[in-house]
Amino acid sequence: MQVGIDRIGFYTPNKYVDMTELAQARGDDPNKYLIGIGQSQMSLADQTQDAVSMGINATLRYANQVDMKTVDLLIMGTESGVDQSKSASLFVKSALKLSPEVRTFEIKEACFGMTAGMMIACDYVRLHPQRSAIVIGSDLARYGLGTSGEVTQGAGSVSVLIKANPGILTIGADHSAYSSDINDFWRPNDSPVALVDGKYSTEVYLDFFKRTFADYQGQTQKQTSDFAALIYHLPFTKMGYKANRLAVDQQDTAIVQRLEQSFTASAVYSREVGNIYTASLYLSLLSLLENGQLKADNLVGLFSYGSGAMGEFYAGQVVAGYTDHLNPEKDLALLQRRQKVSVAEYEHLFNEALRQPEDNVELVSDEEEGYWYFAGCKDHVRQYKQK
Ligand code: CAA
Repeated sequence: MQVGIDRIGFYTPNKYVDMTELAQARGDDPNKYLIGIGQSQMSLADQTQDAVSMGINATLRYANQVDMKTVDLLIMGTESGVDQSKSASLFVKSALKLSPEVRTFEIKEACFGMTAGMMIACDYVRLHPQRSAIVIGSDLARYGLGTSGEVTQGAGSVSVLIKANPGILTIGADHSAYSSDINDFWRPNDSPVALVDGKYSTEVYLDFFKRTFADYQGQTQKQTSDFAALIYHLPFTKMGYKANRLAVDQQDTAIVQRLEQSFTASAVYSREVGNIYTASLYLSLLSLLENGQLKADNLVGLFSYGSGAMGEFYAGQVVAGYTDHLNPEKDLALLQRRQKVSVAEYEHLFNEALRQPEDNVELVSDEEEGYWYFAGCKDHVRQYKQK
């Protein structure tokens, strides 16, 4: 029996900032952002979209196509938690009307959180093949106005359904994990934005990739040439490009070309959405599946990285007929529905979203019909509504 991803849903808020305009406003050369960092746009969440509402919206993209009664595990990875105690996944469970018997909780280890959830969910389904699990990554990447990390912000969520005999990607039990207690990126309780040692974080990311990829190859006897694609956590697309260059070093031209083409396909969505922390690797996967040229049984390697730091490399195999489980037109429409906001408007919305909304004041969303949003707090209890 094989276990893996049967469905993928994606959501990003309805506003974006153009990177050329942001570069001009900050007095930088636009090519630094467009080429040097590799980002064209970044999605922007106003006060009414948070980790919970985005996670609900991502899951609703496939919820009506599957038997939700088989779901008895719901895991949410996020580093944009809405409460120090109550799990974000409980709000999601309620919106999705999942049964009270569902086991549900939130996981945190920076951008690694969704991968941690995936591993738990796959093992769970291996033991309970009749059951299925939902794993969500949902985040708002915020570094602050005028900081060097500003160009690597973003907002969005990816939700996957894990089940036996999946329709998209089977996930092997082999994996290579590596961790170290370091301070490359973190967000202390008294800060609404992340603190980061940017250059150090990129060095550690590449070091962890080299270690886990080599270890995985040693364990499984797989060669770089066995992979149809290698995909990465993409805090910004240039980061994954650098890791991919390391992977293809000393490979023959055909392999380099194949892995570079598949990397480009995997980075299409992140280039426009920006960093979505926990969900970023899975946005790369969706982008590869919808913009690449994968065939049945192709091997895809996935590198997950969470600052602090935790890295893991694992692999999956593409399932025949996987395109029947995707909807690229709908995902493109989701990106294209976003309205561009000026840099001044972005700065205003950014500052507003950092403030705790006044209690008992209802927030109004400008999202389209059907989407969920955060409607403010009633007596300090968060309220979520559907438009
Ligand atoms: N045209 C083309 N390229 C240009 C250019 C121009 N005019 N000007 C500069 N560049 C290039 C530079 O040469 C450089 O390229 P290389 O990296 O290939 O050398 C690139 O643009 C970036 O320039 P800088 O290094 O000068 O940029 P910076 O000092 O402003 O910082 C950053 C970049 C470190 C990524 C910063 O944006 C940051 O701290 N981001 C947040 C941290 C982060 O994302 N880290 C990633 C690893 S950690 C992780 O993955 C977890 C997570 O999600 C956060």
